[in-house]
Amino acid sequence: MSDALDLEYQVASGLPSLEEAVAYFNSVGKPLAVEVLRSAVRRERPAIQPRCGVGAHDRMKSLLLELESRAAPDLLTVTIDSHTRLKHFATAEATLARNPGHLNGYPLVAHGWGRGRELNESVKVPLEVRHGSPDARELLAVSLASGIASFEGGGISYNLPYAKDVPLQESLEAWRQVDSLCGVFAEHGVIVDREMFGTLTAVLVPPSISLAISVLEAVLAAREGVRCVSIAYPQGGEALQDIAALHSIPLLAERYLPESVETFSVLHQYMGVFPKGRSVADALILYGGLVGRIGGAAKIITKTNHEAYGIPDTRANVEGMRVTEAACSSFLDFVQVDQERVALERDWILCEVAELVEPLLACDDLVAAICRAFANGSLDVPFSASRHARSAVIPARDTRGAIRYRDCGSLPFSEATRKRQAQSLSGTNSDPDGLKVIESITADINYFAAHDVSKGEPLPQLLQEAS
Ligand code: 5AD
Repeated sequence: MSDALDLEYQVASGLPSLEEAVAYFNSVGKPLAVEVLRSAVRRERPAIQPRCGVGAHDRMKSLLLELESRAAPDLLTVTIDSHTRLKHFATAEATLARNPGHLNGYPLVAHGWGRGRELNESVKVPLEVRHGSPDARELLAVSLASGIASFEGGGISYNLPYAKDVPLQESLEAWRQVDSLCGVFAEHGVIVDREMFGTLTAVLVPPSISLAISVLEAVLAAREGVRCVSIAYPQGGEALQDIAALHSIPLLAERYLPESVETFSVLHQYMGVFPKGRSVADALILYGGLVGRIGGAAKIITKTNHEAYGIPDTRANVEGMRVTEAACSSFLDFVQVDQERVALERDWILCEVAELVEPLLACDDLVAAICRAFANGSLDVPFSASRHARSAVIPARDTRGAIRYRDCGSLPFSEATRKRQAQSLSGTNSDPDGLKVIESITADINYFAAHDVSKGEPLPQLLQEAS
């Protein structure tokens, strides 16, 4: 291990030494997140994990305890507040002192690793830190010192959806250091699960964009010594496409990642606009659970029937996990899909991802190539608020609800891919003008919300098929 890294790790003064932090992992008597993921794959049932985070320490501790005792998740989360995500640690600390209820998550850096360890020791299952930081170096150091070896994000996926004007070069360099520190811990026997945030802007992201960006982040992470990568894919809403995307993850890992890296697939239950009605929201959560199970996901990050109204309370969070668990129970194994059609869809996805990532992977300097690609639009994220992505790609749902490309922008897709995309949208109003485009994108975004059962409207086709 380099001295520079040791110094970096201790940069937030008062952190324990690397040796002490590793010794803590070995003595705490809890499995690592990677071990939980391995056992989920072995038993062929996804691990279940909620999101959760409140400002005050005691409230956070009791929230974790209550979620564990009432829903028995396989992993728990420490969702971090917005001030900490942006490295405004002093503001987080001041808000914590004045009004912890104003924080939208747990300010781990302000609380410090001593309390982090207390959280960790208060529950049986491993914790993951989920946040949204373009620069997560301090947060990672405190997480590792707290005995938390599962960390979400990446230099692209935690920049473009969250920040308006952070140059990719900067976030990629910060995350290189994050990955490098995870690599050092792996060398010392503590394998850190690095989860890529494939959800991106959460608005109609075509699977090949999500997966291409995760692959690039995973390749960069592997080069820094990361040994465990979770590729998280957001449920788009069409079962065959979503299952195909999940099935493509191990194949992408085989193609683009070294053998020394363990890869897991993760499903984020629907991240778009949620229905308000409780029953249809629960149906969408159940649908996500089925897709995750049939897609062979190692883990499902759950949603709640409170989603349309904001951050969930404990009841909603517990219900979300229970509905997901029900979706994964073996008596629902009879719910199956047409594997031939899934394979066809999977091959499309693999081909599109190859067209997006292979020109970049062939470059000597991958980071520079990624920055250039976003500048010239050969990599892109729809609906990004960042100045550093063009957002020229325009997605659309096909007649079954699968997310396609209405406009491929400047993505380096072959003629064959462009043609297939255009064909997939035949039968939809895919080439309307002016106002109609906005109307139809809005309808695609509100796909599930528009089917609220409480309004007496019909469920989407696939929910009817599965029920
Ligand atoms: N606790 C629980 N869930 C949270 N989310 C964001 N912050 C928190 C928190 N502190 C959830 C949102 C949304 C997703 C992006 O994360 O409700 O579902």
